[in-house]
Amino acid sequence: MHRTDFLVIGSGIAGLSFALKVAKLGSVAIVTKRQGIDSNTAWAQGGISCVTDEDDSFDLHVADTLDAGAGLCDESVVRTIVSEGPERIQELIDYGVDFDYHEVDGEQVISLGREGGHSMRRILHSRDTTGREIEEKLLAAAQAEPNITLFEHHYAIDLITTSKLGLATENRCVGIYALDEKEGEVVSFRSDRVVLATGGSGKVYLYTSNPDVATGDGVAMAWRAGVEVANMEFIQFHPTVLYHPKGTSFLISEALRGEGGVLLGGDGEPFMAKYDERKDLAPRDIVARAIDTEMKRTGSRCVYLDMRHHSKEYLEDRFPNIFQTCLDHGVDPSKEPIPVVPAAHYQCGGINTDINGITSLKGLYAIGEVTCTGLHGANRLASNSLLEGAVLAHRASEHIKAILPKERPASDVELPKWQRGDAEDVDELVVIYHNWDEIRRLMWDYVSIVRTDKRLHRAATRLANLKREVHEFYWNFKITGDLLELRNLVDVAGLIVESARLRQESRGLHYTLDHPEKSTELRDTILTRY
Ligand code: SIN
Repeated sequence: MHRTDFLVIGSGIAGLSFALKVAKLGSVAIVTKRQGIDSNTAWAQGGISCVTDEDDSFDLHVADTLDAGAGLCDESVVRTIVSEGPERIQELIDYGVDFDYHEVDGEQVISLGREGGHSMRRILHSRDTTGREIEEKLLAAAQAEPNITLFEHHYAIDLITTSKLGLATENRCVGIYALDEKEGEVVSFRSDRVVLATGGSGKVYLYTSNPDVATGDGVAMAWRAGVEVANMEFIQFHPTVLYHPKGTSFLISEALRGEGGVLLGGDGEPFMAKYDERKDLAPRDIVARAIDTEMKRTGSRCVYLDMRHHSKEYLEDRFPNIFQTCLDHGVDPSKEPIPVVPAAHYQCGGINTDINGITSLKGLYAIGEVTCTGLHGANRLASNSLLEGAVLAHRASEHIKAILPKERPASDVELPKWQRGDAEDVDELVVIYHNWDEIRRLMWDYVSIVRTDKRLHRAATRLANLKREVHEFYWNFKITGDLLELRNLVDVAGLIVESARLRQESRGLHYTLDHPEKSTELRDTILTRY
């Protein structure tokens, strides 16, 4: 049993930032299921939104965020996160993050990109690999910090609570079980302050811009422990992922449309003006739906993003990663439009928390994409997520610092040893691979950009069967990383479908042909298991 003052699950911007801050207060374990670098953060391309330009203002950034969020943002949360952004950006710079600058009148000025839904240029970036730059610098700092131990290749399995242990005390989180993949054994981590920073759940869909690690682990674990989950129906589909017959999940950043990129239909004509006066820079829900409609209308397998108004030199310099990846797939963006399709990109709902990452379970915090804080409402404004991760990490650490002197931890609790089935039936392993594919296909076909009551009902019926099968397998067979992820995927898919069925209106990212209008009632979808 590992025992630390703080236990962080996940190693993206939120988890690493939090760990670095609380390392000044005590010992920290970071549990992450692949290598430290393997996170959604590392895949972020466009950048991090923050008011830094004197022509911009917090009010404008707040207004853009509220507009994208379609009535469901919590304005005070939005204002707090937006206005605390500049200090968090300065911290990232202090950790060595190398944002792009350019020269104006002999002075170095931070370069700002623009993305859909933003009325101003306000996206700080490091070429088109901003997330990787942030991730590398934070990870290096965490690895150099003596109070932090990084446990790579450890899959968190479940939260351990005092009620699960049968203790007659107030229910609280006291640790986790995790699979040490290299040793093939289950270990426990004991801590009174457990922080979920596990990111999103893009892998629940067949097509996604997310890395393989995005299997909704934090939401699923929290849900199974009886923690409140909110607004899971709002899954953001990024309008432009590279389309290639061999199938990739490579994002073509919205920053390209920020630099004048124009979407063309199969007939080579621009189409966004038909859908929104902001054309290609409308918020993502509008652009993704417009592409879906155009593809269905014309029967084409993709649409195209035209960047030919820029020179090869410019594209290679500003978007080196995207340019090279397109070339690797046989497309030269300076000579031909890039084939693109929408794909699942961001989970706007998640574990219900306040502005300090406090969840409905004592001792459990959640920060980053895994949460629903009220910042995104029904649709996230582009590049607001890295900002939220950094701000929530800071606020959660400050909150803990403030309550630490008066806290009464459950320090005498011991965690029992893990006990589960250990049957290994090689023939049955096919169930795991089959069910992985089935969940992702059914979510794509029945629960994606445009929904209907009938499709949601079908999805719910299929998922109920899959859930039974996966859970039976989980209890009887020796666990593996794949099985744990599958168990999380099936739970998260169920939450998305249940939430979508409860929202009988179209709002933000939830669009259903059976209820195409917005309801006059503004409400969050809050689910609890118990
Ligand atoms: C992008 O670069 O288009 C992604 C930015 C984001 O999702 O916030």
